[in-house]
Amino acid sequence: MIYYGYSSPEGSEELRNVLSTYLFRTRGIKCHSSQIVITSGATQAFTLLAKLLVNSESEVLIEDPVTKEIPEIFIERGARISPIPVDEYGMQTESISTKRKPSIIFVTPSHQFPLGGILPIQRRIQLIHFAKKTNSYILEDDYDSEFRYLGPPVSTIQGLSPERVIYIGTFSKILSPSLRIGYIILPNSLVENVKTLKRYTDYHSPTIEQVILARFIQGGHLEKHVVKMRKLYKSKRDFLIKCLKSELGDRVKILGASTGLHLIGQFNVIFSKKILDKLENNGIIIYPVEKHALVKGHHINKLIFGYGNLTKVELEEGVRRMKKVIEEELEQNN
Ligand SMILES: Cc1ncc(COP(=O)(O)O)c(C=O)c1O
Repeated sequence: MIYYGYSSPEGSEELRNVLSTYLFRTRGIKCHSSQIVITSGATQAFTLLAKLLVNSESEVLIEDPVTKEIPEIFIERGARISPIPVDEYGMQTESISTKRKPSIIFVTPSHQFPLGGILPIQRRIQLIHFAKKTNSYILEDDYDSEFRYLGPPVSTIQGLSPERVIYIGTFSKILSPSLRIGYIILPNSLVENVKTLKRYTDYHSPTIEQVILARFIQGGHLEKHVVKMRKLYKSKRDFLIKCLKSELGDRVKILGASTGLHLIGQFNVIFSKKILDKLENNGIIIYPVEKHALVKGHHINKLIFGYGNLTKVELEEGVRRMKKVIEEELEQNN
C-alpha cells in the first residue's frame, strides 16, 4: 500500500478502524469507524464544528473557566458565549436556564479544564435531557482522561447518548502535541457535512503519521505506553502534592488531582500581576486559573500546576521558590 497520494477527508481507514475498537475497550464509546473524522488535533475539531454548527445567531454554553482559546473559536464565528460556572464537580448544570436554546454545550466531563472536576452522572443526565429538549449538541472534549490515578475509569457522555454528543479526542496529552492528531466521533447525521468541511480546510490530515499511529495502537504499544506513563505521572503528582503540603501546609488546598497532567492549588493568597511577575522572575512559569476565566474575579487565588514535563528536582525547587515569594508577599501585606 502506498500512502503518498491524496486520501479521503475523514482520514486513514486503518486508524479509524483501530480507534473504534480501542475506544470501545478503553472508554466505552459506541461508534462505527465511519463516524470518525481524523483532525489536526482537538483544535481543528473545534474549528470545523464551529463552522458547521455556529453562526452569528447562535448561543454556545461553555464551562467557565475553560481553555482560553476554545471560546474564541466560537466567538470568531459570531456566536454569543454563555459561561456556565464550574465547581469541584465540573459544569454546574443546574444553573443552566431552561429558557436557553444553545447550538452547542461545551464540556470537559472526564477532567474539567482547568479545575479538574469529574462530572457526576446526575449532571450528565441533566445535560443530555437539556440537549434533547433544545435540539443542541454536547461537545465532549476528552483531552487527558487516560491518566487516571484514583478511582474507577470515568466513562463518557457519548456512551450515554451517541446521537446528541459529539466526542472529541486528541493524542496531544497521551502521546505528544507535536503529532497534531485528534479525532471527532459524530452522530451519523453530521458525518458528511464534517467530511466536506475537512476537505475544504486541508483535504485530509497527513496519512503516513496516521498509519504509523494505527499500527502503534494495534500492536498494543499505546496501552503499554499509557501504563508506563501513568505510573511516572502519578509518582510526579504524588511528589508535587507532598512538596506543596510540606512547604505550604494549610496555605494550600489541592483540587482536581485525580486525573491528567495538572492539578490546582487553591491558596489564601490573591495572585495579583505583581506576585505572578515575581514568580516568573524567580524562574517559575505558572498560570493562574483566572487567566482562563470568562467571568473574572472568582478564581484569583488558584494556580494551575502542570507537572507532566518537570523532573522531581525541578518540582521541589519550584515549590521552595514559590513558598519564599508567597511568604514575602504576605509579610509585605501585614
Ligand atoms: C481543554 C483542552 N482540550 C483539548 C486540548 C488539546 O488540543 P490539541 O489536540 O489541538 O492539541 C487542550 C490543550 O491544551 C485543552 O486544554
